Amino acid sequence: MDRLAIHGGTPFRRTPFPARTPFGDEEVEWVTRAIRSQNLFRWGGEMVDQFEADFAAFYGAGHAASATSGTAAIHLAVGTIDPEPGDEIITAPISDLGSVSPILQQNAIPIFADIDPATFCMDPEDAERKITPRTRAIMVVHLFGNACDMDAFVDLSQRYGLPLIEDCSQAHATQYKGRWLGTMGDFGCFSLQQSKHMTTGDGGMTITRRDDYWERLRFFVDKGFRRQGWGPRAYLFLAPNYRMTELQGAVGLAQLPKVRGVAARRTALGTRLTELLRGIEGIETAAVTPGSEHTYWAYPLRTGVLDGVAFGEALRAEGVPNMPGYIGKPIYLCTEALTAKRTYGQSGFPFDSPYTARRIEYTEGMCPRTDVGLRHMLTLGLHEGFSEEDLADIAGAVAKVARLLPRA
Ligand SMILES: Cc1ncc(COP(=O)(O)O)c(C=O)c1O
Repeated sequence: MDRLAIHGGTPFRRTPFPARTPFGDEEVEWVTRAIRSQNLFRWGGEMVDQFEADFAAFYGAGHAASATSGTAAIHLAVGTIDPEPGDEIITAPISDLGSVSPILQQNAIPIFADIDPATFCMDPEDAERKITPRTRAIMVVHLFGNACDMDAFVDLSQRYGLPLIEDCSQAHATQYKGRWLGTMGDFGCFSLQQSKHMTTGDGGMTITRRDDYWERLRFFVDKGFRRQGWGPRAYLFLAPNYRMTELQGAVGLAQLPKVRGVAARRTALGTRLTELLRGIEGIETAAVTPGSEHTYWAYPLRTGVLDGVAFGEALRAEGVPNMPGYIGKPIYLCTEALTAKRTYGQSGFPFDSPYTARRIEYTEGMCPRTDVGLRHMLTLGLHEGFSEEDLADIAGAVAKVARLLPRA
């Protein structure tokens, strides 16, 4: 009889899935040019300038500022908004810490809105419920390559006069109702880390169409330094150094022309995987936000009544890599900076400060739909180099586990 691999049966897939190969001769040529130029510093170089200009043009965004990571790109947006200590920024409970730590680094307080249970993306209605007089901005996270309900979030941001930050780290070159994610809010922030649709190994980009924000953003990335030739230096305000190097700029220039193709291929593969998974008893396929493309940075699968961790373990034994619950638990429970308010020395700043309007705790049960969602969700790795056969193996292994895993 057919047995699960965790119970001694034969794994459904016995060869590894193809490794991703995002780089080719174009990257080698651009990097070689950067090195031959004898200057890897962005100021005085050509690569980063060109990369920013091309990125802004691709999105029709007006302005683009490069940075050293996606986290840095988000910090550029938050630092440009310049919240008062203790101001609140509403964001998503399922994300990388990179969308949360910049809020704390600017001494603001992250407030988490629960998810839309269908898509795992932040729910605009719960976000609205979380607005207080101290709310300073809203940051949506387009999770796994799928848009948040942007009509609702744009409306919310306009009704309350709150800047809208879009974390597009997992949703490069993705359209919602014919517009690019990252261009409907005030800021679009992108991670260029290795796993993303386009990558410079590490890196980030922040886009904005707003000239007023650009005035601060363009200095925030470089210590607030207004570079104006020789003479006494002018640092306009407190800011980090997130300058990208020419090496990253060179790779970015080679990656950008490919990103829409990568996104489209992932859309095709994810859509096909949904077809193959449909009809497997107990399994729910990835939902797509109405009006959005889904470019599948990862494929979120719902395991119905079956526990996601047990399912994930059995599926891994069948040779299909996956991450139960993606980050395992809501992001606010993943760091002592929030659970124990361990922020700056022993101070707990800004939580335990006179600047803060109310006491905020980050506890289990705070976002109940997120808790349930994560328990029964696992993410499958998927990338543009997968074949039809790879997808068939994933679906076959999922079907096998769904059929044979004992119900609790
Ligand atoms: C949604 C999201 N936001 C922010 C980040 C942070 O990006 P980085 O790792 O480049 O700092 C990531 C990266 O994993 C992410 O997936």
